[in-house]
Amino acid sequence: MSDFFKDNLLKNDLVAAPLAGYSHLPYRRILRKFFNGIIYSEMISVEGLARRNKETMEYLDRLPIDSPLVFQIFGGRPENYGEAIRVAENECEVDAFDVNMGCPVKKVIKAGGGCSLLNDLGRIKVITANIRKATEKPFSIKIRIGLDYNHLVYKEILNIAENEGVNALVVHGRTKSDMFGGTVRLDILKEIADIAKITIIGNGGVAGYDTYKEMKATGVDGIMLGRSMMKAPWIFKAIEDKCSDEDLYSYLSPSEIGSLLIELWGYMLEHTKGRGMKETHYSHILKKFAVWFCKGFDNASEFRTNIYKTNSIDELLILIKEFYN
Ligand SMILES: Cc1cc2nc3c(=O)[nH]c(=O)nc-3n(C[C@H](O)[C@H](O)[C@H](O)COP(=O)(O)O)c2cc1C
Repeated sequence: MSDFFKDNLLKNDLVAAPLAGYSHLPYRRILRKFFNGIIYSEMISVEGLARRNKETMEYLDRLPIDSPLVFQIFGGRPENYGEAIRVAENECEVDAFDVNMGCPVKKVIKAGGGCSLLNDLGRIKVITANIRKATEKPFSIKIRIGLDYNHLVYKEILNIAENEGVNALVVHGRTKSDMFGGTVRLDILKEIADIAKITIIGNGGVAGYDTYKEMKATGVDGIMLGRSMMKAPWIFKAIEDKCSDEDLYSYLSPSEIGSLLIELWGYMLEHTKGRGMKETHYSHILKKFAVWFCKGFDNASEFRTNIYKTNSIDELLILIKEFYN
């Protein structure tokens, strides 16, 4: 029987992390230029799906080239997961699901999802059992190693995952207290990889071939990239070419980066059409990509200031073309 996670990771062991606000269809189309492996979607509300909320349903937008794709869902009520999964499967082609159990953001915790589940292993058990009952599709769960160093829960969660038919465990090697800083515990990733019977995907702090190699040495099956792929989507190709962490931002020429941003804007416009969104819906996000992609460039700070000052999309595009050419 085919195994979605194992088979895809054997072809490409990198994985694109779920990033709320950024892992949307337009950005995924850019990632696909550099990457044929597994991409995770932005997190999608279980409650929103179960109610078929119009805005929530738009997170299920995908294109045939956008595969393999994992839809990440989040929510605090185990009883809604089955319905959310049925709604998603009726709406579009689903390759696989993931449950967010590692997000420390207040909104998600308040809804009883993300990191708050690390405090409630009973609920993790019911959620995973409900998903397994609702679908034969593969699914992963994405966790942190614990709430803090007094409350490490990765072993208990691995045990639940293996007993409840979860196909893969994604482990962000930090605690909730670490937020997005702190050391990524490669030793703990190794310990998990050594004992696990299911697929393990490690996550945290990979930003080029050097850090990729360090995580690969732990024995995890897959290596998930978060902020680095948000700030340099070409990282997937760069790692394949053994580009060091230090050289990541000079991997593409300025004009190649400029063209990427213009292409991204085209996909963003295409995505707003027919969805009742304003044409400028994505312009503030394009600004962020424009300033992230120019790390280390001469005159980058002046460019950043100009980008943030402008309210006109035409001017924004001119600034991008001038700077990157
Ligand atoms: C802006 C932003 C949005 C994120 N959104 C999600 C999300 O929707 N679901 C999730 O599980 N994790 C989310 N994360 C966490 C990342 O997927 C990843 O676990 C984390 O950034 C650590 O990996 P890194 O060190 O490679 O960035 C987000 C992180 C950032 C910075």
